[in-house]
Amino acid sequence: MSELVQPAKYFLNQNEIAQLLGISPQAVSIAAKQRGIDSFKDGNKAAYNPSDVRSYLESRGVKYPQRVIAFQMLKGGSTKTSTAFNLAVRLNQYGAKVLCVDLDPQGNLTDSFCYDVTNEPVFFHVANGECSLNDAIINVSDSLDLIPSDFENSTLDFLITSKNRDLRNFIANIIDPVKSRYDFVIIDCNPSLSPLNISIALASDQILIPVNPDKYSAKGLKKTIEELTRIGKEFKHTFDYNLLFTLYDGREATSQKYLIEYGTHYRDRLLSTVIKKNADVKNAIDQKKTIFDFKKAAAREDFDLLAQDMLGIRNIGKKEGRA
Ligand SMILES: Nc1ncnc2c1ncn2[C@@H]1O[C@H](COP(=O)(O)OP(=O)(O)OP(=O)(O)O)[C@@H](O)[C@H]1O
Ligand SMILES: [Mg+2]
Repeated sequence: MSELVQPAKYFLNQNEIAQLLGISPQAVSIAAKQRGIDSFKDGNKAAYNPSDVRSYLESRGVKYPQRVIAFQMLKGGSTKTSTAFNLAVRLNQYGAKVLCVDLDPQGNLTDSFCYDVTNEPVFFHVANGECSLNDAIINVSDSLDLIPSDFENSTLDFLITSKNRDLRNFIANIIDPVKSRYDFVIIDCNPSLSPLNISIALASDQILIPVNPDKYSAKGLKKTIEELTRIGKEFKHTFDYNLLFTLYDGREATSQKYLIEYGTHYRDRLLSTVIKKNADVKNAIDQKKTIFDFKKAAAREDFDLLAQDMLGIRNIGKKEGRA
């Protein structure tokens, strides 16, 4: 079946910037022109590339942080990849320079960006000294890069343990040299307590654990935290980890139950933003798009607010009062 596929949009349109800043689309256009920032046409709307959004937001005092964030959770299918993908895209649309690192041999994050990397370098080849990290970086769009993954990465664990590598610094040593080029390095992991995931955790500033409203998820969370605590003691390292409630459905009693349960037991760790269960998250991947290509998607605003919180730009318009 042939289909006409519109590419995913890795940019913001004027209305989205207007909404963020609480001003009119016309005011966005005038302010951008005053700052010498050019727009381009997306249908009948003016749109701005991430680097231009960045110039605009920086001129309003927004500071971009430098963070390495790993998505980890022992339970499979907890939405690590989908959440990492949509968060990375939104951070980038808001002007952040983002490097996505797919370290799950399933290569789902790589698939989300629609790359087939058969015969292309992945992280394993870098770690094994076969190429440089730069050789493995794919430029997806303006200031959005990806280090892809495929089954070759399943030998990373063997590589770490067989050659008695320094687990503490194995991942950090490879990633650190390029970190300063990005505001966010977002690492997607497989659901396991592998040496690779331990090394990733030790190289990260923050670990995001997606939790869902079900018993298996609660069990996986408990085990994940126990393991982080154990590793932390062994390596004398304090992990900064947070829970992100996803697959929330307000009509389900279990969603209410687990929201209360996670909120009670992990009050200081649970992020205030909750990601709703929404078939458009799946539809977007299927259609080679992101949740931000679906204007009416229920989870769109959730991902948007999550990214805004990470950049500290939620309510920026209200705080400043004008463009
Ligand atoms: N907010 C959401 N609403 C509805 N479905 C979702 C949502 N987020 C993810 N999904 C779906 O849930 C399934 C599991 O998601 P995903 O593959 O991201 O999980 P994962 O934790 O990365 O899995 P794995 O442990 O295998 O790596 C996918 O089919 C995905 O489309
Ligand atoms: Mg995954």
